[in-house]
Amino acid sequence: MPAPSHGQILARLGVHCVVTTGMAGFPAYWPRRPLPRPEWHLQAARGHSVAGLDVRGGHDDLCSIQQETRMNIPTKMQGLALLNDGYSKTPATQELDNLSPFIELRELDVPQPGPGFALVKVARAAVNPSDAAFIKGVYGQARVAGQAAGFEGTGTVVAGDTPLLGQRVSFFAAGSGSWAEYCLAPIHMLIPLRPDLRDEDAAGLIVNPLTAVAMFDIAREDGADSFVITAAGSQLGKFLIGLGRDNGIGALAVIRRGQQEAALRELGAADVLVTEGDGLAARIDALFQAHSPRVLLDAVGDQISADLFFAMPERARWISYGRLAPKPPVLTQLPQFIFKQKQIEGFWLAAWLRNTAPEKIGAVVQEVQARFAEGKWRTDITASLPLGEVMQALPAAYAAKDSKVLIQP
Ligand SMILES: NC(=O)c1ccc[n+]([C@@H]2O[C@H](COP(=O)([O-])OP(=O)(O)OC[C@H]3O[C@@H](n4cnc5c(N)ncnc54)[C@H](OP(=O)(O)O)[C@@H]3O)[C@@H](O)[C@H]2O)c1
Repeated sequence: MPAPSHGQILARLGVHCVVTTGMAGFPAYWPRRPLPRPEWHLQAARGHSVAGLDVRGGHDDLCSIQQETRMNIPTKMQGLALLNDGYSKTPATQELDNLSPFIELRELDVPQPGPGFALVKVARAAVNPSDAAFIKGVYGQARVAGQAAGFEGTGTVVAGDTPLLGQRVSFFAAGSGSWAEYCLAPIHMLIPLRPDLRDEDAAGLIVNPLTAVAMFDIAREDGADSFVITAAGSQLGKFLIGLGRDNGIGALAVIRRGQQEAALRELGAADVLVTEGDGLAARIDALFQAHSPRVLLDAVGDQISADLFFAMPERARWISYGRLAPKPPVLTQLPQFIFKQKQIEGFWLAAWLRNTAPEKIGAVVQEVQARFAEGKWRTDITASLPLGEVMQALPAAYAAKDSKVLIQP
């Protein structure tokens, strides 16, 4: 028997209007009838008035839908399994040149969702620099050998303790990753999707878009009329440029390849600094004479990042959020921390999600979905690779410039 469609499930639950559930503020569906678990009501109601909504019946319906959906879930699946446990002591970059020391395609057990988790049938999974760092053991999270890799993706919820059963979602994986046919995700990390969102954007809806909005807020709250972004041709850099353009805060885009300059100006960068070529120090000074940014959003962490920071005006903040460079910088001008009150900080989305009010997270999630749906943002895609082609084809596809690779199980 085929799995019931999203529409069938909603009809059986008597859905009649859109409110929020999961992480507060994510748009989802409000059932007319009570949900089997009281906490679902709390999630659904947070931030919205429930007065006047008709809530009756429904437990048996939902259980039978769950059973019906489960019947279609196999016990085995294909997935790209991690080969190593824990962290690596060997420094590594976020490149992906040879996958075989880190992952392999295997038949795996389809994971069982425990309390608080959902099982998602993966439609597309993202391949981000954080995935590259993670499989190599140099990300801020320990590996578990034998588990599927992959942090985020999009797909359909097929089992678990959630009213989002049958719903198309973006998700952040935990316990069993997204580079597989099925994946585990904590239910509070499920984002019900607008129907007008492309799978290509939904596959990477969390890591880069939420980070872009969260970090842009840092620049906005600083009050300056511009901010600096390194690796500005990255997908995240392009999202930040779009935010700067739409909010009247100029993004100063720092890139290493001149070929990207025209495209970034076209996207709305207020200025572009190309780091290849002669006279960089003088060009940095000229940039900061024309603009006075106080926030440096830095994904690279090399000597040029440090040189930019020390050339910035008083009270400049260097926000380090990526380690794309293989060699760290030398800090030569320590008195600036004292006499110019400069600061170095870090940004990590995982910490931002832990420390931010659910209502704020919900608002950001809605904003990023709207930006994609309205065409203000677009994820540039090189290729969507089936699982069976990843080991061989991913390194070359990942090395292609200016766009992302997805895995399409
Ligand atoms: N802290 C957080 O919470 C968080 C969240 C999301 C993302 N991130 C980080 O954000 C960064 C961008 O992610 P993404 O997915 O947008 O990347 P992406 O689209 O894969 O692009 C990577 C970019 O990095 C540039 N790059 C690589 N190595 C470089 C180096 N040594 N010097 C200068 N530029 C270099 C590349 O430039 P070329 O085209 O010239 O090769 C490319 O533009 C990553 O470091 C990622 O880990 C952090």
